[in-house]
Amino acid sequence: MESQPGQHMTIRLDVAPNPNGHDPKTHEQRIAQAAEILRAGGLVAFPTETVYGLGADATNAAAVEGIFTAKGRPHSDPLIVHISGVDNLPQVARDIPAMAYMLAQHFWPGPLTLVLPRAANIPPVVAAGGDTVGVRSPSHPIAQALLRAAGVPVAAPSANRFMGVSPTTAAHVLADLDGRIDAVLDGGSTSVGVESTVLDLTTSPPCILRPGGLTLEALQAVIPHVIAPSVSLDATDASAGQALRAPGQLNRHYAPATPLVVFDAEGARGAATVLRAAREAVGEGKRVGALATNDEAPALEAVGAQVARLGPSDDLAQVAQRLYAALRSLDDQPLNVIYAHTFGQVGMGLALWDRLRRAAGGVLQAADDKEAAQ
Ligand code: TXA
Ligand code: MG
Repeated sequence: MESQPGQHMTIRLDVAPNPNGHDPKTHEQRIAQAAEILRAGGLVAFPTETVYGLGADATNAAAVEGIFTAKGRPHSDPLIVHISGVDNLPQVARDIPAMAYMLAQHFWPGPLTLVLPRAANIPPVVAAGGDTVGVRSPSHPIAQALLRAAGVPVAAPSANRFMGVSPTTAAHVLADLDGRIDAVLDGGSTSVGVESTVLDLTTSPPCILRPGGLTLEALQAVIPHVIAPSVSLDATDASAGQALRAPGQLNRHYAPATPLVVFDAEGARGAATVLRAAREAVGEGKRVGALATNDEAPALEAVGAQVARLGPSDDLAQVAQRLYAALRSLDDQPLNVIYAHTFGQVGMGLALWDRLRRAAGGVLQAADDKEAAQ
């Protein structure tokens, strides 16, 4: 069952909720089939509440190697191990601090990854050769059913080609990995839309290595002393201090192929800056795309930009849910440039800020101040 890129068919197993009432036996059989592939050392993509993951048996080093091959991912980038619940944590990690259990009680299952000392039965390849392991319990019912049926911890990075945009549908997974993996469980669109928050518990105080689906504010309510990720406009600064502790956190990541320009300004100022940039670029004869909230879209379309709508501007959860699909839809069109703006750094705004910056190659553009007055 070893994954040889391009040498076999990828099975698509539909487990999306069926409005006409699905056959539960078929549903269970598909999960069981996927679990059997995992136990045999194969690769199965599956939905989590954040993004689709590309899973392999985390205790099987050869199977985990297949993930790196299928994604084209360097071994220096560690994988997150998925477990069905906190009871399975000792299979994956050792010397588990009380704080891990407290956080698990508050936030698992859910979009929080804990970095802990790695247990001996998790092979080094999972963890980029390091002594730690990232572990989380996903809340998506299909992920839960798969983990229970497989009965092994499942290593799973996002199911995209390395450096690409993370997948939030099974179609995104197949666009990147068809023929390179054994199966994908199709559970429809994911609900959170950005990856989990990665929290390092091997340092004191604990430190956020990657902002994500669980907000900083939610974590601070439980561990007030948590160290937030640095969020300066100068991306090289922001990454330099964390580079060693957050392996795999590349500045250029989550990136579309089309050049993406992101202005670091929220609200009306961000909207005005994107509109000006789009109007100018269309005027220069460029084919222009824009990521925009619903209220911003008509003005952008009026100047000739292709718009991917992110939802209402006061609903950042929906903006996050739609972000990657919107980026992919614009990237699929023959555009010269895509414009977007940030959404502040409060709540889900922080994860959006981080992903938009990485998608733009690690660089944010300052917004023109005179836009604020207009
Ligand atoms: O929401 C998510 O986290 C998704 C779903 C599938 O669970 N997974 C995901 O995995 O985003 P991936 O491989 O695309 O990102 C994992 C990142 C690594 O790049 C690294 O930055 C961090 O998590 N990470 C994992 N293990 C780590 C470790 N032992 N030490 C430090 N950082 C780690
Ligand atoms: Mg990823």
